[in-house]
Amino acid sequence: MDLMEKLTSLAKRRGFIFPSSEIYGGLNGCWDYGPLGVELKRNVKEAWWKDMVGHHDDTLASNDAPSSFSMVGLDSSIVMNPQVWEASGHVGGFSDPMADCRETRNRYRADQLVVFGFISKDAPDNEVNQSELLFASPGEIGATPHQELVTPHRKRITKLTSSLGEHKIVLIPDALTDEDLRAKTIAPGAKAPGTLTEPRAFNLMFKTHVGALETNSNVAYLRPETAQGIFVNFKNVCDTARVKVPFGIAQIGKAFRNEINPRNFTFRSREFEQMEIEFFCRADEAEQWYRYWRDRRYQWYTGLGVTAAKLHLREHDGDELAHYAAACADVEYEFPFGVSELEGIANRTDFDLRQHTEHSGKDLRYFDDQEPDKDKRRFLPYVIEPSAGADRATLAFLCDAYTEDTVSGDSRTVLKLHPRLAPIKAAVFPLVKKDGMPERALSIYRELRTRFAAVYDEKGAIGRRYRRQDEAGTPFCVTVDGDTSSDDTVTVRERDTCEQIRIPVNEVLAHITERIGG
Ligand code: GAP
Repeated sequence: MDLMEKLTSLAKRRGFIFPSSEIYGGLNGCWDYGPLGVELKRNVKEAWWKDMVGHHDDTLASNDAPSSFSMVGLDSSIVMNPQVWEASGHVGGFSDPMADCRETRNRYRADQLVVFGFISKDAPDNEVNQSELLFASPGEIGATPHQELVTPHRKRITKLTSSLGEHKIVLIPDALTDEDLRAKTIAPGAKAPGTLTEPRAFNLMFKTHVGALETNSNVAYLRPETAQGIFVNFKNVCDTARVKVPFGIAQIGKAFRNEINPRNFTFRSREFEQMEIEFFCRADEAEQWYRYWRDRRYQWYTGLGVTAAKLHLREHDGDELAHYAAACADVEYEFPFGVSELEGIANRTDFDLRQHTEHSGKDLRYFDDQEPDKDKRRFLPYVIEPSAGADRATLAFLCDAYTEDTVSGDSRTVLKLHPRLAPIKAAVFPLVKKDGMPERALSIYRELRTRFAAVYDEKGAIGRRYRRQDEAGTPFCVTVDGDTSSDDTVTVRERDTCEQIRIPVNEVLAHITERIGG
């Protein structure tokens, strides 16, 4: 089993993540968080909110910020006036190229299919276009190993290449937009070539209707990002929250995208949660603030325990940038299925506020009453947007925490989650179910439970109880034993090191609270 299979199986077995509506066969791209998963994901969102908003000090230039700034929150509706999505460009442009296989009825994102062929070793690469047969496999040019591309067509390729003698593989970008090349291309699982359709744009927004009639005039969309809810409330927030540029508006909420190929567990889902900040600043300070947010957001993940060596900050090249963006960087994580985006940080210039000003006819310029120059008092701020996914972050924390090790000769699976993120912070055990131990343990459990998620467990051998908590990522296990009644102490076992210390019962709550932090 590879790591992703092990993790999916643990997630199901221990109640972290289930397929959505599983008893009816599930729904592709939708997931449910079980009792442990919901705590973990809530802790991820809670950590983000506290670190970005709740604990932010408006009066200090902390974390190497260029100056002090304000942070406020928002919770906007999921269904909004459809003009929002006209203005943002989502109605016209939020699409992926899609290709269908007429034979297998499978649907692919055209930019995630690699077309390739084989030619003699010494032939020039462009001769591959003359090959009689080409192959298409799921993957990305430059990222997917050739071995993986070959797998879906192994038998056919072995036959072809044995007749070629010494040969090489050549990848053909954009082959699917060329009718002749498409006609020679075999799709995964297809018997005949030429079954893939020409790629066409597929809008990713889920449509619905508002009100009783299902007509074109009352079409609405489930939001594909939380960001636009922030932009359309920019004026409301400025008018009511007494914020001054620079300031940020943060929002956590569901987003929906009708992804062509949901995949890699929760990584690419159709329903997911975003944690977004729109940070409004002056145009001439935007570059500084962009660097600040980019670095701070990277550090947020390492501060919560993600292995720095597996976390990368990738600055986009000029030709990768959206037309309105002045800069963009991705925080990427080395998932078991490859290096992939966790979060994007972009300098979106004044594009969004300008679009909404034009489409709504409302003046969204910020008014700076402290500016001595009258002509400079009204302006459209620039926006720096750190946009993270709560589900992707949760998946990255899970992947990073998953560990198999050996303790005193016994192998165990342990989730080494940061204590702030762990679904359960402490488990309390009586060593045996007699001699007053359950009563003492229950009283400690009830005290801990008033402050954080704790469980009480008296079933099975103590070693098995530890293993159960290791798999759930519980950082501390408290055991009441034979000495507790005489000296009022218990053992506290630490999950990662398995070290045990003995402390007085009345210090357990303070000890664990301090170790959790946050
Ligand atoms: N407002 C900008 C925006 O939405 P994005 O790069 O499309 O930018 C931001 O999305 C983040 O949302 C991504 O980095 C990812 O963490 C998360 N995300 C996007 N699509 C997703 C999907 N289909 N499933 C899970 N998370 C997704």
